[in-house]
Amino acid sequence: MPKIIFRLLLSFIVFVTIFIVIKQLVIPNSFGDYGHYRANSIDDNKGRTLYFKGDEKCISCHQDINDLINTDLHSEISCETCHPPKIDADTDCKVNPPKIKGTIEFCAQCHTKNAAREAIGFPNFDIKEHKGDQNCIECHNPHAPWELKE
Ligand code: HEC
Ligand code: HEC
Ligand code: HEC
Ligand code: HEC
Repeated sequence: MPKIIFRLLLSFIVFVTIFIVIKQLVIPNSFGDYGHYRANSIDDNKGRTLYFKGDEKCISCHQDINDLINTDLHSEISCETCHPPKIDADTDCKVNPPKIKGTIEFCAQCHTKNAAREAIGFPNFDIKEHKGDQNCIECHNPHAPWELKE
């Protein structure tokens, strides 16, 4: 075998060996057990604290708010869409309630002017043109937006 071919072959084998070693080192355990992913990630995710409770849980203690919401156009929105679900299943709401501030920015997330909203007739507009810098909740109740305080 010519020397140059031998060297080429040798470096080829060396590179392939290094490749295989690194591949073994970086591929996590359990990868590919079920498919093209790390099977252990299922257990990892199962171990995480579940924060989302669903409306029924909130309503079991806040029936009054639910009654109010059901009278108006925000009835389709679930509590945790607006109140970030952060109470641990074992923590009482009394200790760590998912409080939020009703600011212009908060309402604007859903009601500011947007072509997609326009297209489906969702109530959206230029926030500044509506009532200037006055905060929305000075007039609208967040749970029953047509319950105007004005
Ligand atoms: C085990 C009963 C219970 C459950 C379940 C519960 N809460 Fe509460 N929550 C309370 C109590 C008691 C208070 C404190 C008294 C109050 O202000 O009504 C409170 C307070 C709050 C407050 C703050 C009130 C304030 O004065 O600023 C918010 C917001 C709130 N809860 C939202 C929620 C949401 C959203 C859920 C569902 C994810 C939920 N709660 C589930 C019992 C509960
Ligand atoms: C459209 C968004 C939105 C939805 C949906 C919503 N909330 Fe609220 N909620 C708010 C805002 C904003 C405030 C804070 C108002 C403020 O700053 O005074 C608030 C305040 C509260 C408070 C404090 C006391 C009070 O009466 O204002 C409680 C308790 C509460 N929400 C519970 C709930 C529960 C339970 C649900 C589901 C049945 C729910 N909220 C759904 C936006 C929402
Ligand atoms: C998570 C999205 C969301 C947030 C946040 C939100 N809204 Fe709404 N809002 C809605 C939806 C959905 C409707 C119902 C639209 C429909 O039925 O066409 C609605 C309807 C309304 C309406 C009635 C509009 C009409 O055409 O009759 C008013 C007023 C309103 N919201 C005010 C507010 C105010 C004030 C805030 C802040 C406290 C707020 N909204 C926050 C989603 C939101
Ligand atoms: C000074 C009181 C006041 C303030 C502040 C206010 N609104 Fe209104 N809003 C009203 C009144 C009154 C109406 C009904 C007549 C009108 O459109 O002016 C209304 C109507 C609406 C509508 C229905 C519009 C439609 O065309 O169907 C939405 C949605 C709304 N407001 C959201 C908001 C949001 C979001 C904010 C904060 C950025 C806000 N409002 C601030 C008093 C107020």
